[in-house]
Amino acid sequence: PQSSPQSQDARKRSASEAFQRNGHERNSLPQPQRSSSGSHREPKVVSFSDNDAETNVNGSNTQTTSPSLRSNHDRRGQLRLRAQELRSVRKALPIAPHANEIREKLRNYDVMLLVGETGSGKSTQVPQFLINEKWCQAHTVSMPTVLDEPRPSSKKKSVTSTKVKVGGCIAITQPRRLAAISLASRVAAELGTPLGSSSPSSQVGYSVRFDTSVSPCTRIKFLTEGMLLQEMLRDPYLREYSAVIVDEVHERGMNVDLVLGFLKRMVTEKGSLDGRGGIGLKVVVMSATADMEGIENYFSQPSPVHENGNVNGDAVISKSVNGHHEKVTAEGHNEPDSEDSWSGLSSSSPEPEDVPQSMNSCSIATTGSKTQPQQSLTTACHIKGRQYPVKVIYTPAPVQDVLDSALHTILHIHTHEPLPGDVLVFLTGQETVENLASLCQEAHLSLSQDPKTRSTIPKMLVLPLFAALPQHAQQRVFEKTPPRTRKIILSTNIAETSLTVPGIRYVIDSGKCKKKQFRSRLGLDSLLVKPISKSAANQRKGRAGREAPGTCYRLYTEKDYLMLDQDNDPEILRCDLSQLVLTLKARHVDDVINFPLLTQPPREALERALLHLLQLQTLDPQTGHITPLGLSIATLPLSASLGRVLLASLEPQFNCLPEAIDIISALSVENIFLPTTTEEKKEEAETARRELYRREGDHLTLLSAVQAYASENSDRKAWCSKRFISHRAMQAVMDVRKQLRALSRTLTATPDKLAAGSGDATDLPTRLLRALLTGFLANTARLMPDGSYRTLMGNQTVAIHPSSVLFGRKCEAIVYHEFVFTQRSYARSVSAVQMDWVGEMVG
Ligand code: CDP
Repeated sequence: PQSSPQSQDARKRSASEAFQRNGHERNSLPQPQRSSSGSHREPKVVSFSDNDAETNVNGSNTQTTSPSLRSNHDRRGQLRLRAQELRSVRKALPIAPHANEIREKLRNYDVMLLVGETGSGKSTQVPQFLINEKWCQAHTVSMPTVLDEPRPSSKKKSVTSTKVKVGGCIAITQPRRLAAISLASRVAAELGTPLGSSSPSSQVGYSVRFDTSVSPCTRIKFLTEGMLLQEMLRDPYLREYSAVIVDEVHERGMNVDLVLGFLKRMVTEKGSLDGRGGIGLKVVVMSATADMEGIENYFSQPSPVHENGNVNGDAVISKSVNGHHEKVTAEGHNEPDSEDSWSGLSSSSPEPEDVPQSMNSCSIATTGSKTQPQQSLTTACHIKGRQYPVKVIYTPAPVQDVLDSALHTILHIHTHEPLPGDVLVFLTGQETVENLASLCQEAHLSLSQDPKTRSTIPKMLVLPLFAALPQHAQQRVFEKTPPRTRKIILSTNIAETSLTVPGIRYVIDSGKCKKKQFRSRLGLDSLLVKPISKSAANQRKGRAGREAPGTCYRLYTEKDYLMLDQDNDPEILRCDLSQLVLTLKARHVDDVINFPLLTQPPREALERALLHLLQLQTLDPQTGHITPLGLSIATLPLSASLGRVLLASLEPQFNCLPEAIDIISALSVENIFLPTTTEEKKEEAETARRELYRREGDHLTLLSAVQAYASENSDRKAWCSKRFISHRAMQAVMDVRKQLRALSRTLTATPDKLAAGSGDATDLPTRLLRALLTGFLANTARLMPDGSYRTLMGNQTVAIHPSSVLFGRKCEAIVYHEFVFTQRSYARSVSAVQMDWVGEMVG
């Protein structure tokens, strides 16, 4: 759900006003720099130019006076006005004075590492600095195409050439969907262009799982790392882009490591630009924390030789000229046209003499044993943020109950500290955020009813902030705090580096976050509450000192702080690698072990992933290559296991596609059933939901909830609220369902099965659960004589989670979607299955 453009605008305006009030204004404008030779014409710079409100990112004029385009014109006028308002905020950002330095460096280098404090303007400004650079414009190149049919006059297959567009767009990857969408809407507002698919002339778009919003004119695209990997399946050369900006690299999720691996190969390996007609790709790696040395070394090292690499061991210099790469020998001679695909390519590149000398830098990729004098491929830029002193207060002894301690600290600040001064609390997840939100509301109610405090204590505005929150709800944290009010923002680690919240003077840090962790004895990932790293603790602390001196309350002892790890450990070292290996195999990287990853995962973790993929029939047991089934799964926006289930549901023996889509959609959102706080509410919810519960388990219960919601034609919101079901979550489910339905039409050649349902209803639950087992065989457990459940792989004890409809029931065997560990090991989203079904699958 989106709020109206007007209300979003109003919100953004108030955020910008708040920003300006706090003195973030700067008078000096960075001037466009002339190149050293003086011959290079500076392309039109949108950012900060005097007339940027009149100019779109293509440098063309957007004004129109045609009466027939009146409303469009009005809308554009509003967008321009808004962009003009935001200009002073942009000029005040710490990154603003570095605009020319960043442009200049990227003209000379292919890879730039950029470190800057959160909020310094990296994500929103860097793409705008670069978009009008000469190397960032689209080129048309001729690519050789081999025709399958030989010409009648010749026995040889003929080669023709096709015109292909390369470059022109900048991709900025984000680890989180929410950040990708909110950054895109911010940058669109700053440029005065409509967002995404809302207008065919929009120049800023985004692409996240189940939601892509771009136009034919998109030039700046924010996308999640996973979506860029998906795009690489369709277009391994990333032809759409002139630059890829990898943001928030310090988070070190698995996908960012994969993205870096593919980009490293593209900028360092011979032949990697063949598919781009020799047009170079620039890479910017951005981080909020300083430790970039590892990444610098990584990009400086040659990639191991791989199937497309330069196998003869010669050094090859790829000369970067204004974004065009020319192959020359190590001696510097242009190589004559040869039979390789470098030859015969023409492009609309400017003549070399147009290019100032300073831009003729060489980037060297050496392979094999010969050593060559290496010139650096990478350059770095450090942006200092604004940081006021932040006082740190530790607890004298370890805290038993974090929520209780957080509540006390909030109330202490609220009743003792002056305004203005909003509070940001870092908690572990959506559940703790929602629990603390209701505790705060209760406390606020009693303060406002108490005659002693009623007139003296300010109002408390409690705002949750977590990834699954819809954009308009998330946007509330950016709104100006009303008079005599204190904002209390309860957040997961999303506010650590991804989002910048203005007005914060107090931070309360629980010291914990939720992390995925592979548990080898269980053979799967589980979500565990873990201590954060020192660098994360310092990021959290830093949020209090952006606009004035602040205070950070750490709900742990100083001794505990000193024992924290220095940095976030890369996900690749602690998670199941099935998805990573499937991604590599789908791009025909068969030597998975030698793929250039920033951090090499343990060999046994890779082997375990290979085994899992074999069991899902995504790899050929003889060759290890990806199977057609595996390739189809890799193109789905789903985990390998859920993708396997979706494809199984198309097979005649299971034949349950529409229902499988409903279940998968429901499993894709965090939880559709709202937690209940009191016994009374719990009973009320149980009664209202009874009609939805299915004895087969949670998967069929989810199915009946989705079906009932979908067929509810009157008031869906009321339907949800009566059953304590999250309307927001159900809307997200319907969104995913719609996308998966559209996608599955491309998967099946048979006539549309979606409308018809899946035939004979009597054995539908069995077919569905057996289809589920194709993807989740590893997540099965059987009942033991003592009443406990033990996993079939690993023989570990698991209990059915109290939230399950099967809680307290004894079934022969269970299959579950995920595993959580709180006080004990729980299986969540559980269904009852028969052992002989499991036996059949194992074969
Ligand atoms: O990437 P980095 O953390 O360095 O900064 P940014 O995301 O580019 O944000 C720069 C500034 O833009 C922030 O301080 C916010 O004031 C503003 N911003 C916003 O108001 N709304 C957004 N969705 C993103 C940024």
